[in-house]
Amino acid sequence: MVGHPPSLPFEPFKTKVVERIPNPTRRQREAALERAGFNLFNLRSDEVRIDLLTDSGTGAMSDRQWAAMMVGDETYAGSRNFAHFEARVHDITGFPYVIPAHQGRAAEHLLFSTLCRPGNIVPNNMHFDTTQAHVVHAGGTPVNLAVREAYDTVSDYPFKGNVDTAALDKLLTVEGKERVPLVMVTITNNTGGGQPVSLANFTEVVHVAHAHGVPVYLDMCRWAENAFFVREREPGMGSRTISEIGRAFFDLADGATMSAKKDGLVNIGGFVAVRDAPLADRLKEALILFEGFPTYGGLARRDLEAMAVGLEEAMDLEYLEHRVGQVRYLGALLDQHGVPFLHPAGGHAIYLDVDRFLPHLGDEELPGQALAIELYREGGVRTVEVGSIMFPQGSSEQRPLELVRLAIPRRVYSASHLAFVADVVGRVYDRRAKIRGVTMTYRPERLPHFTARYSPKTR
Ligand code: F0G
Repeated sequence: MVGHPPSLPFEPFKTKVVERIPNPTRRQREAALERAGFNLFNLRSDEVRIDLLTDSGTGAMSDRQWAAMMVGDETYAGSRNFAHFEARVHDITGFPYVIPAHQGRAAEHLLFSTLCRPGNIVPNNMHFDTTQAHVVHAGGTPVNLAVREAYDTVSDYPFKGNVDTAALDKLLTVEGKERVPLVMVTITNNTGGGQPVSLANFTEVVHVAHAHGVPVYLDMCRWAENAFFVREREPGMGSRTISEIGRAFFDLADGATMSAKKDGLVNIGGFVAVRDAPLADRLKEALILFEGFPTYGGLARRDLEAMAVGLEEAMDLEYLEHRVGQVRYLGALLDQHGVPFLHPAGGHAIYLDVDRFLPHLGDEELPGQALAIELYREGGVRTVEVGSIMFPQGSSEQRPLELVRLAIPRRVYSASHLAFVADVVGRVYDRRAKIRGVTMTYRPERLPHFTARYSPKTR
């Protein structure tokens, strides 16, 4: 250990309901790994001590959200909960047309199946796996255009989520709006370490795309966390509210997809919101076919009410200070131990830098998965590989970053849980030279990391 212990993030809430944390023994963890085919998605929750698999839909709702659930108006058409939800999304984003969906990928399905045709190209700073899969599903080709700094895990560049606007301009000049139906920008950039996009960069993206007649959509899953970083890091933004900064982004965009399982602070929910009335009509047709009527979109109406409250709570500065503070706290503990991770700490997660953690393993030894397995084996901590398995080669022009993500659920774990996690990671780091690779024994065609199976290499 070097330096002073990092300061503890103050929890701006108190506990009203508790859930017992399981404590599987080492033998139980070994058995669980075998049963799961060494894919941590196949573990049962009672086999996991600290679950950092995802920050999606795993947060704790507030007392106000639970109270909102009790005023569910479960009518098929015209529920008053939809009216509340629609008004809240409208207030936050300014988009006139709000189409509810059960989660982010459903919103992506609606948008891409409506706008994207076979042979099209969709640029993004970095596609998340479901976004990429929906572009491909619609016959398109996803292209990642993040700035060079995004691929440098050591640099402390403040806006690693930014788009390379010169590369975007070049692509749009060559391909034109005939082949590029939209540009997406993901805030924060989940695939690249939960890193923010600056308002200046997004302004430039919109300027470039609109000059080519191409609309720009935000993947706004973690828009409040992005706004927190903009407020903190971008010149002139320090006195603006989260809501004002968010709105500055939305005012520039043509629409957005949202997984409210992130910065909507709910366990299920999402939406797509747009400016264009004819497009909204087409999205609603697709919605009725795949999700449900436009006043519920595949959700119970009480879920819409909880989302309306959660979207507002996500903009609370004290909440965001704690939220990002937790990620930084974990990062600071890992730094003290010398554990390599993508810098700076992201908005929702720490991403271990696998190339520097396990330099003795080659790409074919699936080092990210090997590391995720060891973190579980060591302390029952469940994480996820964000690397060549989640993003198989060929789907992107560049070798993907090789990372293991420790995603922190919202309002769930305490600082002592994070200290426990840092301790587990530190112990695995200390014995890193002995860690062996894994082989994939079952490779599904789409979204492989969810259902692949592995076996450890014995030599
Ligand atoms: N876009 C981004 C940037 C995401 O992070 C996710 C989900 C989605 C879209 C899809 O949303 O899960 O509600 O269908 N990310 C989760 C994660 C699964 O673990 O990062 P969804």
